[in-house]
Amino acid sequence: MVGMVGMVGIVWIVGMVRMVGIVGVVAKDESEGGGVERSGNSVPGRGLNEPPSVIEPPGNVGNGDEPTGVIEPHGNVGNGDEPTGIIGNEVEGNGNVGMVKPGIVGNVGNVGTVGAKRRHAARLTSMLEQDRVTMKMTMNQLRGAMAWWNSKIRLLIGGVGGSFDQTHSLGVGINYGQIANNLPSPSRVAALLQSVSISRVKLYDADPNVLTAFSNSDVEFIVGVGNENILNMTNPTNAQSWIQQNVVPHLPGTKITCITVGNEVFSNNDTQAMSNLLPAMQTIYNALDSLGLKGQVNVSTAHSLNILANSFPPSSGLFRQDLTQYIQPLVDFHSQTKSPFLINAYPFFAYKSNPNDVPLDYVLFQPNPGQIDPVTNLNYDNMLYAQIDAAYSAIEAMGHTDVELKISETGWPSMGDSDEVGATPENARIYNGNILQRIKDKQGTPMKPSVPIDVFVFALFNEDLKRGPASERNYGLFYPNCQPVYNIGLGGYLPLIASAYKTQVRDRTHQ
Ligand SMILES: *[C@@H]1O[C@H](CO)[C@@H](O)[C@H](O)[C@H]1NC(C)=O
Ligand SMILES: *[C@@H]1O[C@H](CO)[C@@H](O)[C@H](O)[C@H]1NC(C)=O
Ligand SMILES: *[C@@H]1O[C@H](CO)[C@@H](O)[C@H](O)[C@H]1NC(C)=O
Repeated sequence: MVGMVGMVGIVWIVGMVRMVGIVGVVAKDESEGGGVERSGNSVPGRGLNEPPSVIEPPGNVGNGDEPTGVIEPHGNVGNGDEPTGIIGNEVEGNGNVGMVKPGIVGNVGNVGTVGAKRRHAARLTSMLEQDRVTMKMTMNQLRGAMAWWNSKIRLLIGGVGGSFDQTHSLGVGINYGQIANNLPSPSRVAALLQSVSISRVKLYDADPNVLTAFSNSDVEFIVGVGNENILNMTNPTNAQSWIQQNVVPHLPGTKITCITVGNEVFSNNDTQAMSNLLPAMQTIYNALDSLGLKGQVNVSTAHSLNILANSFPPSSGLFRQDLTQYIQPLVDFHSQTKSPFLINAYPFFAYKSNPNDVPLDYVLFQPNPGQIDPVTNLNYDNMLYAQIDAAYSAIEAMGHTDVELKISETGWPSMGDSDEVGATPENARIYNGNILQRIKDKQGTPMKPSVPIDVFVFALFNEDLKRGPASERNYGLFYPNCQPVYNIGLGGYLPLIASAYKTQVRDRTHQ
């Protein structure tokens, strides 16, 4: 009993003191720019001017696809030098608690006598027969190997069915960031995603090479307008032109279902971008309407959780007062246009900031006592759900219960600097694996139990050119060679076998 009381006490301390600053208050590194930004040179024709290793100029901050983890004191967030992290809410200083040889029939050449010809023919027939037998054996071996791999893959994905069966899509989305100089070709990526049954992808730009590689793939795309292009998009001609250039050419082969305008705009001090965000969204919406695409393509923007002034308990979630002037009309826009409100949420930051106070099991979706919201009496067994519900509460406080909320980013790094506690392959496997399970179970949050969580995991690949702490470059589910960083039950083996097989076939035809 004493033990119990003690535990309860600790939980309450965590819940009431630290959690206030911890839950849900997260921000990302805005220093990499909203996705137009990438390694550049390796991908010609995208209008990228910068060399692969160039880092964003300070003014280009805030459109990044990078989750980050540095803790910033409130008010110091988004100044471009930092991979952001969590932004403290009211807790100053500790803030941020949020992959045959059939025989080769060579040239026969000229033959002399009939007998010789006959002997030669017999020999040739025999050779061909041997080849046929060898080939058959080889094909059988190959078939066996493929069947074995397929069964393995089915096992890995939990018996969900064939790995090429798009009708068994996992439901989870993935962020396909490209701030790297070593990523596979978009067509290889298309094969990878198909093999693991992921059919929802979020880009930070509208990379035509990617959108083209996925044509007729059944993969749904969210494309992005970078932060640096927000002002430009407030002009109707430019907005229409952007859609004509970046969206229309890919429809309907590639399903583009949403345009995000900017990324984490309110995490920066760029008041011009903040003021122009909604006008840009409205202008893009009108342009879609005039092109007959309204309803087919949503318009939204992704927020870091540092837009919340308060996130715990979840029922008391509120947006920062200094942002009300921007966020109130934004939420109204989402309600009017029936578009989703997007948040980037990283419980990792909260854990990294306060590993002694934040229970690891709570942030990793592992069994734990949870945190009770004293107002609603709802029990939260994981921080992500608390963050989501805090955002729902903040939206409700603005008079809306009709706006859907989606998690445009969440993830966990498999590696980090020595001071980044918790950034391990095991924790990343557990975090992402547990999220996958909850998505499979169509789970909702305590406040919205009938609304399944809608999640885009960050990220598809480790991105070597991202700046900031080591964790920034290690959020990927896959290495650039398409090997899985850890096994969360997604598989990821098939593309290796498939590509190895293709390589062999190609090599033979070249002999
Ligand atoms: C944002 O602006 C405020 C007010 O001008 C300033 O105090 C703060 O340092 C700025 N923060 C960043 C990250 O630039
Ligand atoms: C504004 O957007 C249009 C449409 O995408 C583009 O052609 C133009 O170059 C942009 N202008 C600037 C200044 O970025
Ligand atoms: C647009 O967003 C709404 C609200 O989240 C959603 O119900 C609808 O399916 C989305 N439309 C598309 C084309 O994805």
